[in-house]
Amino acid sequence: MSEAVLSMFDAIAGRYDTLNHVLSLGRDVVWRRKAVALLPALNTHATVLDLCGGTGDFCLALRNRGIESACVIGDFSQPMLKLGKGKGLSAEFIVLDALNPPFPKQTFDAVLCGFGMRNLDDLGNGIRLVKDLLKPGGVFLTLEFFRPQSVFTRFFYRVLAPIFIPFLGRTMGSKREAYEYLVKSVQRFRSVEEYAALCRASGFGKVQTLSCDFGIAHAVLAVKEKE
Ligand SMILES: C[S@@+](CC[C@H](N)C(=O)[O-])C[C@H]1O[C@@H](n2cnc3c(N)ncnc32)[C@H](O)[C@@H]1O
Repeated sequence: MSEAVLSMFDAIAGRYDTLNHVLSLGRDVVWRRKAVALLPALNTHATVLDLCGGTGDFCLALRNRGIESACVIGDFSQPMLKLGKGKGLSAEFIVLDALNPPFPKQTFDAVLCGFGMRNLDDLGNGIRLVKDLLKPGGVFLTLEFFRPQSVFTRFFYRVLAPIFIPFLGRTMGSKREAYEYLVKSVQRFRSVEEYAALCRASGFGKVQTLSCDFGIAHAVLAVKEKE
């Protein structure tokens, strides 16, 4: 687990939701809604883990779609989870490390991860652990900023984002490291195609990707093969 990433999220937790909405110009809400729309029908008995769930907004999008499955929100930042607890979600909140999850294999029908996989020290292991947590036929929904590939997203992440994200971040009194980390971690991360390939190599069968706002964000739905 990365102590530096944990301290950063602990420090920005109080401003996280506002920063998210302002820096994405409100689009993060739309991206979560579009991502959740990719999920197959989940019945009320289905079990869902919102991994790196932070303040619970992915789980909130699930509820807004009318999915009432039992949701566990897991994150290593207690201040982030504390804010999520104030949102009236009927979910269980658990402090955990995504690279050492405290659940038996095949516990969940669906695992969601919104803007969390990019933070993991060992991405391949993170994906394999998610696969192990899923029941056969279970689904893994990722929403993430992947390394830019198109001319537009390269321009966005290399030119526009390094200017306007620090500007908006400073305006909101956020520490320099937090917004620098955001831009750098996106540039260092896998492309969406590489991520989909990694999911397939880790034992997921069907993998579907959805581009949001010309590729600024992507949703990836990976289905664990039935044994
Ligand atoms: C960018 S926030 C995303 C929060 C939420 N999923 C959303 O959609 O807004 C990333 C979250 O991942 C958590 N995180 C990062 N690495 C983690 C790890 N190894 N184990 C558990 N949580 C982690 C952070 O604490 C933070 O709350």
